[in-house]
Amino acid sequence: MTSAPESGTSAIVVGDLVKTYGEVRALDGISFEVARGEVLGLLGPNGSGKTTTVTLLSTLQRPTSGSARICGHDVVAEAARVRELVSLTGQYASLDEGLTTIENLSVFGRLTGLRGRGLGARIDELIEQFDLGAVRDRRVGALSGGMQRRVDIASALVTRPEILFLDEPTTGLDPRSRASVWDTVAGLRSAGITVLLTTQYLEEADRLADHIVMLNRGSVVAAGTPGQLKQQVGAAVCEVTLAQRDDTARVIGLLDGLELVEAPADGTAAAATVHPRLVVRAPRGMATVSEVITRLQGAQIDVVDIGLRQPSLDEVFLQLTETH
Ligand SMILES: Nc1ncnc2c1ncn2[C@@H]1O[C@H](COP(=O)(O)OP(=O)(O)O)[C@@H](O)[C@H]1O
Ligand SMILES: [Mg+2]
Repeated sequence: MTSAPESGTSAIVVGDLVKTYGEVRALDGISFEVARGEVLGLLGPNGSGKTTTVTLLSTLQRPTSGSARICGHDVVAEAARVRELVSLTGQYASLDEGLTTIENLSVFGRLTGLRGRGLGARIDELIEQFDLGAVRDRRVGALSGGMQRRVDIASALVTRPEILFLDEPTTGLDPRSRASVWDTVAGLRSAGITVLLTTQYLEEADRLADHIVMLNRGSVVAAGTPGQLKQQVGAAVCEVTLAQRDDTARVIGLLDGLELVEAPADGTAAAATVHPRLVVRAPRGMATVSEVITRLQGAQIDVVDIGLRQPSLDEVFLQLTETH
């Protein structure tokens, strides 16, 4: 690969970007930066502005105000150059279902000026990289959802973009197909491609992204590595799962002085589970866990599970979207 003259700059720099549709402020001044070669997870619920962000960055629409640069190039003033650097796969596959895998890849290649041997060689590379050999000559409409996504992502890479935008690549997929798309994204990362992935799934961002930007109603509500975001909600917790449902009230008494975060309330479904779960804050980490163990052992309470757990990104997200 030849190194571009702009190789010292960040892959994506977004500054105070605003997009309005009439009265709707789809993006209300967002800023973030993505380093080359990293996977950024743009995480947010429906309507939070994810697709709008991706369409502005890939020059499909113009921002109302603010700026965005791709490898140093302005998305408005240098839109043509930006289009050479980026590729987008939308929320819905852009493939022709009546064509085979290889025919779809050819269409994308021809659209971008590849012909003859160059095109053939590039397609062979992608078939290999995405492990599509077995479905090479099959109609895309007959493939599984996960396989279609793989062909879709491969198509977006025919032109060797520096940056790939994946807009909700796993929405609507079954768990197995989702896992296959996750592998694909991990492979893109290893190949050094900068990826901006939008998702509504916290687990997905947690697994795939080097950095996460959380959007809510067109604003950035948090940003950082998955670890940093989890720390933001505070200390870890100690989770105890009891062997006997009848011990619940006694255990709550035994945990007196510790901050109880979760306990089955009388009359709820949680109270009716065979093995009730109690959660206390663990500001002293393992020391808190061993304190809990000592108290429970002293009272001869049986547990099926006990452990230290970091807060999940779900908890971070709920906390942040409640207060904004
Ligand atoms: N073309 C449009 N015209 C009017 N409103 C739009 C348009 N596109 C998006 N919006 C609105 O902008 C907001 C953000 O939408 P979008 O970026 O699609 O969110 P997401 O992709 O996170 O679900 C939503 O309130 C949506 O209804
Ligand atoms: Mg969207």
